[in-house]
Amino acid sequence: MDNAKKKSWEKRLAGEPDALMVDFVESLSYDKRLYKYDIVGSIAHAQMLAEQKLITKEELKAIKDGLIEISQEIAEGRFKFQKKYEDIHMAIEDALIKKIGEAGKKLHTGRSRNDQVATDIRLWMRDEIEILQAKIILLQKAFVKLAGKYTKDVMPGYTHLQRAQPIVIASYLLSFVEQFERDFIRLKNCKDLLNVSPLGSGAVAGSTLPLDRKSTAKQLGFRDISYNSIDAVSDRDFCAEFIFDCALIATHLSRLAEDWIIYSTSEFGFIRIDDSYCTSSSMMPQKRNPDILELIRSKAGGVYGSLMAMLTILKAQPSGYNRDLQEDKIHLFTASDTVRASLDMACAILGHTKFNTERISDGLDEGFLDATALAEYLVTKGVAFREAHGIVGSLVAYCEKKNKKLDELSLDEFNKYSSVIEEDVCESIDAAEVVSKYVTEGAAGPRQAKEQIAYWNKQLAER
Ligand code: ARG
Repeated sequence: MDNAKKKSWEKRLAGEPDALMVDFVESLSYDKRLYKYDIVGSIAHAQMLAEQKLITKEELKAIKDGLIEISQEIAEGRFKFQKKYEDIHMAIEDALIKKIGEAGKKLHTGRSRNDQVATDIRLWMRDEIEILQAKIILLQKAFVKLAGKYTKDVMPGYTHLQRAQPIVIASYLLSFVEQFERDFIRLKNCKDLLNVSPLGSGAVAGSTLPLDRKSTAKQLGFRDISYNSIDAVSDRDFCAEFIFDCALIATHLSRLAEDWIIYSTSEFGFIRIDDSYCTSSSMMPQKRNPDILELIRSKAGGVYGSLMAMLTILKAQPSGYNRDLQEDKIHLFTASDTVRASLDMACAILGHTKFNTERISDGLDEGFLDATALAEYLVTKGVAFREAHGIVGSLVAYCEKKNKKLDELSLDEFNKYSSVIEEDVCESIDAAEVVSKYVTEGAAGPRQAKEQIAYWNKQLAER
């Protein structure tokens, strides 16, 4: 190729780039979704170059106008993306030079793609976090709304997936609001930490030109600049952290999915998901399958994969920018897209699911859900807890032998195991009774559930 026709960065190299190589190194196919951030970053950079008299006001205007036109072309699908430009940064710069000529060649003054891409990702992530947070709020609201319908209805609380103690359905649902609240806060913290501008760090060492880094940082809404150019171009800690936050959201969603897959079985029959959110079988005509929940459950695996990939990409990289970092975006986008879709789906399912309260309450006398409350009853009669625990254990074993429930025992039978038991024991041995006796803060009773619903309604309305 005629050297004069080559792109500026190709002049150093002899001959033409190999087609296989072009395909292999490009990131344009996926980083084009950063275009808005790239353009906003470039406009801020050009503005600063003009303030510093490194370009003229006229050149600034031409650059701005050109970039805005390019932005419109991309938004309207009129822009021709060509892989030979490697990435979105080069594709836009090349289009700008073609559009406005000489002034366009000055845009990259004092800048490298290394600080440019680091800036773009941070700008993208700030917005992405807000989108994820908005979806989390919607999901929390859906949980609170559903919980409001079941503040009095009792279900078994489980440990080890074995019946443990009675709880109200609302408390079970509200336990997810807490999990997603931590996700919300984690994302907020991630955003605060990442919100510093690497722009002006150049390729690795900064620049000999008098760039005003604080000006670009301010224009782009960063709270500060980064203070070490070598670190600034290679830091992707925030990417690993963001994917970790996504991974925990996916974890929480997978736990919900697992519960509801179990709860929707014929064996449990605790919930019924609307037909519109079920799938059927190609062979078995009776089937109503919870495939959506299964997919939410499995997608957590994909997000963990992204986290592992991101950490492994970062591990043992030599200092400064390395092209390995280009792949950060693949995993960022995958993790975020997956979690976004799963949050939407979970929110939709929540609005289309009912608890079979009758069926749940019919089964409450199975599994000795009231055993702990009975032990605590004995404590109120002066029995040491360890002793009370043993007495109730023996009573349960007796019941199993006689095929009885605790509330079917006569006072005489009770008194064979403890003389302090009186008539009032009946208030402590019915699962539906027990929940209203919970007095501790945050317990799974109706009073606490109502308090929590009031708290969340207020809290979430303010967001
Ligand atoms: N496309 C690259 C990335 O996403 C930016 C290019 C930096 N390349 C370079 N050779 N300095 O990380």
